[in-house]
Amino acid sequence: SGMKQIQVAIDGPSGTGKSSVSKLVAKQHGWGYLDTGAMYRALTWWCLDQDVDLDDGPAVTDASKSFDLQMGTDPSNPTVAVGDRRIDAEIREPELTRQVAKVATNLEVRANMRERQRALMQQLAEQTGGVVAEGRDITTVVAPDADVRILMTASEEARLARRSKELSSTVEATRSQIVDRDKADSTVSQFMTAADGVTLVDTSELTFEESLAAVLQIVQGARRD
Ligand code: DC
Repeated sequence: SGMKQIQVAIDGPSGTGKSSVSKLVAKQHGWGYLDTGAMYRALTWWCLDQDVDLDDGPAVTDASKSFDLQMGTDPSNPTVAVGDRRIDAEIREPELTRQVAKVATNLEVRANMRERQRALMQQLAEQTGGVVAEGRDITTVVAPDADVRILMTASEEARLARRSKELSSTVEATRSQIVDRDKADSTVSQFMTAADGVTLVDTSELTFEESLAAVLQIVQGARRD
């Protein structure tokens, strides 16, 4: 029989170190990496590119079914493309970031994305022996049976401080962006408290290295099972 395939699901709001930790865990094990937030961002970009009104739910749902999303899942170089158009920088633009919740709170879009995400996770686990998928609803909806399920949190102050440093903006400017977005996202995914069976890693008082070590230790435990 082959080696055990490990699925790791990591959820949490932004500013917890979730993305950096997820990539490093995948890299260290030679596993695939799936950034599910980038998928919602890519659909938002596609709708804007195709002049689909983001407030027109059914039109956005239609767009989610037809768009040719290509996720690059190497944790050392994750990429996003629609067809052969690379959109790695475009999906991080502040203007798009402000609008992505309109797409991510559409329940039919979420159902479509969930199927894409499950298929990609399965494929990566088979191809590389494991996968680390990060987002808001991976531990609860996309992969509730994952071998490892972690919720990374941090106090609002810690998250704002980290994010404003990343974005080179003030804490106050970042606050309205982050807090409003979390509020919108929270209406469809419950990612501020850990669901049953999900291990909480509170990074408020941890350095990045300590957060990474905590997650690696949890993953190590599952590999021995
Ligand atoms: O993690 P991020 O900032 O790249 O996420 C982009 C948006 O997508 C954000 O509004 C949260 C949402 N999202 C989601 O609803 N479900 C996921 N699994 C991942 C992200």
